[in-house]
Amino acid sequence: MSILELTEPHVFLRNCWYVASVTHEVARSPKAVRLLGDDVVLYRREDGSPVALEDACPHRKLPLSMGRIKGDAIECGYHGLTFDGCGTCIEAPTQAQIPALARVRSYPVQDRYGLLWIWMGDAALAQRTPVLEIEHHNDPGWHMTTGDSLRCGCHYLWLVDNLLDPSHVAWVHRNSFASSGTEDTPLQIEADAQGVVCSRWIYGQPPPPFYAPLVKFEGPADRLQHYEVRLPSIAINRSTFAPAGMGGPGVGEDARIYRMVSYNFLTPVDANNTLYFWLQHRNTDPHDQALTERIAAGAKAAFEEDRQILEAVHQGMKHKRTPNIGLLLDAGASRLRRALAERIAAEQGQEPA
Ligand code: FES
Ligand SMILES: [Fe+2]
Repeated sequence: MSILELTEPHVFLRNCWYVASVTHEVARSPKAVRLLGDDVVLYRREDGSPVALEDACPHRKLPLSMGRIKGDAIECGYHGLTFDGCGTCIEAPTQAQIPALARVRSYPVQDRYGLLWIWMGDAALAQRTPVLEIEHHNDPGWHMTTGDSLRCGCHYLWLVDNLLDPSHVAWVHRNSFASSGTEDTPLQIEADAQGVVCSRWIYGQPPPPFYAPLVKFEGPADRLQHYEVRLPSIAINRSTFAPAGMGGPGVGEDARIYRMVSYNFLTPVDANNTLYFWLQHRNTDPHDQALTERIAAGAKAAFEEDRQILEAVHQGMKHKRTPNIGLLLDAGASRLRRALAERIAAEQGQEPA
């Protein structure tokens, strides 16, 4: 598979965990979502455990999400075929026998970090693959925002590219993440089997507006921008601010050092749309709810800026009349796309291009 094929319809990595929803948005009524081109219905059993089923009744393909939940099962809203949480038909009220082919696909799902995760590929592989482990998740000195989301009218790889591109903050987030040095400080790129990291230290600059009220020291800062994407589309964005002179590779622990990790989870809806989920995790003020809400609101406003740019990029690239050019800053994204094309080719049993 070539990297050009990555943006074709139905070309997705399936054997991995994606976020399907914020946990609290899936309850005891059916919720319809489209993920990787598949229509899926989500709901919860009486004990609260989540269910994800193919959202099409095997009779006339009415979305099951138009039916109703009965106990742990879901009943089709047309003629009452009823399916349990594993997709097995348990009732066919209009006839004596349940038809042999009356079943729907079920997808493995689990709640973690306030998000509902789904496995869209081979269910047998899901058990062997843990959801991403969030470092410091159980550390009482850290605090995590509640997950939030945006729907973006663009291919998920435009969002992935953006989350391997620390330079864009200088233009897209002028009033939040931009500071002197974000335009032109050179990037280091590292790649391994899990993905790609683009990072750099920017030394001795005032913290940008989003971070200035959060850091615990006065004066200029050494700032780490660490943009990491794990295949296919989990982006981990680590921001570190140390008093000027203390930062740099190998920076140690010090009470004045501020760390924020922004976890971004991109789930393809189809070739033209993406669900963008995120949460922020910081090493200060674990009980300050007002601060948490400010951070959550600031992140959402910044990601809305990304959404507007990337939806326009999606349209521009889809309908381009002239060839586009590359820039040096694209190097990390290009490596990620090459690695992703190899993983998808391997999953589909193809030779890599
Ligand atoms: S369409 Fe579902 S039972 Fe007929
Ligand atoms: Fe951004």
